Amino acid sequence: MNESMKAMMVSTSKGIVIKIRNFEMPDIRRVMEIEEESFLDGDAGLYLELYEEWPEGFLVAEKDNEILGFIVLVLTPEGEGRVFALAVDSGYRGRGIGRALLKTAFNVLRKRKIGYVHLEVRVSNQIARRLYRSVGFMETGFIPFYYKNGEGAIVMRKVL
Ligand SMILES: CC(C)(COP(=O)(O)OP(=O)(O)OC[C@H]1O[C@@H](n2cnc3c(N)ncnc32)[C@H](O)[C@@H]1OP(=O)(O)O)[C@@H](O)C(=O)NCCC(=O)NCCS
Repeated sequence: MNESMKAMMVSTSKGIVIKIRNFEMPDIRRVMEIEEESFLDGDAGLYLELYEEWPEGFLVAEKDNEILGFIVLVLTPEGEGRVFALAVDSGYRGRGIGRALLKTAFNVLRKRKIGYVHLEVRVSNQIARRLYRSVGFMETGFIPFYYKNGEGAIVMRKVL
């Protein structure tokens, strides 16, 4: 069954209109540019592997045909959703794109009848922690030395 969503036009909470659609292979170069400037720990091979495992979980946000952000979801063996990565081009942050990607991702999970979503976030990443709290995530745990640089992660979980 092909569960891919059609491209959706979304007006963000800050009033800009973006298109949210499924990731496609040629998008990887632009996605990695945003990921690298965002200091996430992933690499292109891993992103493509996750895409192949569950293509519907990889969404991009674009405006005027340029990708400005992306979100990668995975399904855990326990049947929960997990936000593997979320990032927005540094020149377009604070305009509601991250929040719009998250909300669209929640709907993708709900369609699959997934009841919970969780994620890990750097202790120091106050902006992301605030965004996640504002869309209903609760801080439920702490994993020391989670990131390559030794920083710990806060675990956050949300009922969908
Ligand atoms: C986290 C991130 C994805 C947010 O994307 P964004 O498009 O800037 O977020 P939004 O514009 O949707 O903002 C949503 C909320 O985030 C918080 N936020 C965003 N920018 C902020 C800033 N400069 N200062 C404080 N809070 C901020 C606010 O709570 C904001 O809600 P509000 O606008 O109602 O106040 C983006 O900052 C980013 O790519 N960061 C680098 C990568 C990263 O940290 N990813 C998360 C890893 S778990």
